[in-house]
Amino acid sequence: ESLTVGVITLFPEMFTAISDSGITRRALQQGIFKLQWWNPRDYTEDKHRTVDDRPYGGGPGMVMKVEPLRKALQAAKQAMGDDSKVIYLSPQGRQLDQQGVVELAANNKLIFIAGRYEGIDERLIEAEIDEEWSIGDYVLSGGELAAMVMIDAVVRQLPGALGHEQSAKEDSFAEGLLDCPHYTRPEVLAGKTVPEVLLSGDHSKIRRWRLKQALGRTWQRRPELLEQRPLSQEEQDLLAS
Ligand code: ADE
Repeated sequence: ESLTVGVITLFPEMFTAISDSGITRRALQQGIFKLQWWNPRDYTEDKHRTVDDRPYGGGPGMVMKVEPLRKALQAAKQAMGDDSKVIYLSPQGRQLDQQGVVELAANNKLIFIAGRYEGIDERLIEAEIDEEWSIGDYVLSGGELAAMVMIDAVVRQLPGALGHEQSAKEDSFAEGLLDCPHYTRPEVLAGKTVPEVLLSGDHSKIRRWRLKQALGRTWQRRPELLEQRPLSQEEQDLLAS
């Protein structure tokens, strides 16, 4: 039913970006999801509260110190339950797409480990991580932004999160297509008018126009998305017309 998300992070304050704004804030207020964090720095024992360590083999960059990270994860599992799915964010993981978002949204308890520095000890990945995910082929300074991207995308899949009668099923990509264009007032902006069909009040015609736009834009900008996606008869007719 509801989703509990735990995050292991050295920068918990970053998560105010999702807890304090927008759809994710409202979902938290509605109890549709819960967000908790554990900071490895709180599980250090030394005076300087050290959270990084030197890499075996040398070279530039540090690795997250093992014991504070293990203890933070242990605390998270104790609070959330051993049945939580533990996810590590890194460019080496499975690349997130809308299908992956839908799969992740089927879970009740997710623990995200946001790495910093050059990452975490490989043996921790082998022993503690259920799934490793990437948000794309580029390098971020830490896993926090990646975790927030995944949490935001997953939360909008949860029943009730989008409010009103709006559904994630109407999101761009739910149908494997790019979104259609959108327009609002005024009717003429910088000399450009709103497409006439959108003013017609003919909802069946509007739905077909939007689908045709979505198909056309996908074909032009991301043709590979259409390659392994079967087209319905209506979609084939629209593309041909
Ligand atoms: N950490 C650093 N870069 C990342 C990426 N592209 N995806 C997920 N986690 C990351």
